[in-house]
Amino acid sequence: MGNIILLGAPGSGKGTQSEKIIAQFGYNHVSTGDIIRDNIRNNTAKGNLAKKYSEQGKLVPDDLMIEMLEDYLQTVQGGIIWDGFPRTVNQAEKLDELLAKRNAKVDHTLYFEIAESKLIDRIMGRLICPTCKRTYHITFHPPKVAGICDYDQTPLVRRADDTAEKVQVRLAEYKRDTEPLVQYYLNKQNLSVIDADMEGDAVWNQIVAIIK
Ligand code: AP5
Ligand code: MG
Repeated sequence: MGNIILLGAPGSGKGTQSEKIIAQFGYNHVSTGDIIRDNIRNNTAKGNLAKKYSEQGKLVPDDLMIEMLEDYLQTVQGGIIWDGFPRTVNQAEKLDELLAKRNAKVDHTLYFEIAESKLIDRIMGRLICPTCKRTYHITFHPPKVAGICDYDQTPLVRRADDTAEKVQVRLAEYKRDTEPLVQYYLNKQNLSVIDADMEGDAVWNQIVAIIK
């Protein structure tokens, strides 16, 4: 089992498709957004430093992000879905190093291409489970019981950075720092473009065709 990067704008469906890949193929999920939110929730020193960036929609500085990631990776073995990391060219180079130490490499980079006009509706309707991290949407993917996680019955919450104003900040950060990674992974010849505009199983079917 290898390493698959999910690259795409905020709200493009990285977390949603991660859940499906893990359920079907059994990878580990490394979501740096979840790692940061857990650090904040648990009041760790690193979480307190990261909070002022992530809750405003700004990228957490590379050094702090990499420290939190390395703490988390100590417990992870086997194939990984990288959801939200790397997000800068510096992080991409760090990932190459981390994987080399594990005798591994990036096998696929799935680039979620999506029209910007779709992102606001997706993000503003999102609900997440703070316990198991599963993602819902009030219209497109509602839980069976309103406001409650299907799997562990935890009350669902909205993310602190899911406001119209902060989405604009997140998008600007994405365009400036993360979009250049499309070219970085094109050069490495492992990039596949996923049409993430689609609904239902259409996004999933494209992914399965590549990673099966
Ligand atoms: P992070 O948690 O990674 O957020 P993000 O990149 O902004 O992406 P999202 O989680 O918002 O979107 P997603 O692509 O996962 O979409 P989802 O599947 O939920 O990062 C948060 C913050 O942490 C960053 O802003 C930064 O501050 C910090 N951070 C994280 N990583 C960092 C790093 N490496 N370096 C520095 N800082 C870092 O889908 C969205 C909604 O749409 C859901 O409600 C879903 O149900 C719905 N939906 C999904 N697919 C479809 C579909 N096909 N049709 C209809 N609805 C759909
Ligand atoms: Mg996500």
